Amino acid sequence: MNLKIVFLVLFIAAASAKSASKLVEKFAWNVLDYAYPDQATKQHALNTGEFIPQNGIPVGIEVWRDKLFVTVPRWRKGIPSTLNYVNLRNNYNKSPALIPYPDWRTNKEGNCEGVTTTYRIKADACDRLWVLDSGTLGIENTTQQLCPYGILVYDLHTDRLIRRYNFKPEDTNPQTFIANIAVDIGKTCDDTFVYASDELGHGLLVYSWAENTSWRVEHGFFLQTL
Ligand SMILES: *[C@@H]1O[C@H](CO)[C@@H](O)[C@H](O)[C@H]1NC(C)=O
Ligand SMILES: *[C@@H]1O[C@H](CO)[C@@H](O)[C@H](O)[C@H]1NC(C)=O
Repeated sequence: MNLKIVFLVLFIAAASAKSASKLVEKFAWNVLDYAYPDQATKQHALNTGEFIPQNGIPVGIEVWRDKLFVTVPRWRKGIPSTLNYVNLRNNYNKSPALIPYPDWRTNKEGNCEGVTTTYRIKADACDRLWVLDSGTLGIENTTQQLCPYGILVYDLHTDRLIRRYNFKPEDTNPQTFIANIAVDIGKTCDDTFVYASDELGHGLLVYSWAENTSWRVEHGFFLQTL
C-alpha cells in the first residue's frame, strides 16, 4: 500500500466579513518530514528504517499561540516521533518539517517515560498541554501494547513535563481504544478532570488532577446496539 498521497490539508478560515468565509490552505504534505538536527542523522534514520516517510499519517492537531501541534500515531514502522509541532510564526514553508515535542528523547520508541503513540491532545486555559498516550504500536490486529496507557501534562510556557500518570490496569480492557479526551476545568486550574472515551472498550475513563487518580465508568448506554 502506498500512502504517497496528499493526506492532510489544514485550512484556516479567511477573515473576510464581506464574502462568505473561504477556507485557505495553510499547510499540505505529500509525505511528512522531521526536523533532524543534521542531514547525516536524518540519512542514518532513513537507512535504518527508523524513519520511513511514507508511513507517517497525521491524525490530530492542536494550536497554542504560535505552535501547531501535529500527532502521528505509530500504526506502521518508521515513525520517529508521535508528538510534534510546527511554528506558525514566520513559517513560509508550506510543508514544514515536524519538530518533536518537547524533544526527540521523549518520543523515542520504547521509552515508556515518554510518548509512544498519541492521537488527540488538548491545550487548556491554564496553558497546559494534555497528551493521552495509548502506549501502542500498530493498529487493529497488529496492535502491541508496548507501554501503559497514560496521560502526560506539559507546561506550555516552559515545555516541561509537569505530570505523568499511568492509568490503572482496571481502567482499560483488551478492547480499549481511546480516540478523544476532554479537559474540564472548574474554579481553579487544580480543579481539573479529564474524560477519555473508550470507544471500542465501551467505557469512560476519568482522571482527577487534584486527586491524581483515575477510575472507569461503565453504563449500558455505552454499548453499541445494532
Ligand atoms: C490482520 O487482518 C488483515 C485483514 O483485516 C489480514 O490481512 C492480516 O493477515 C491480519 N494480520 C495478522 C497479523 O493477523
Ligand atoms: C501521580 O500518580 C502517579 C502514579 O500513581 C505517580 O507516579 C506520580 O508521582 C503522582 N504524581 C503526583 C504529582 O502526585
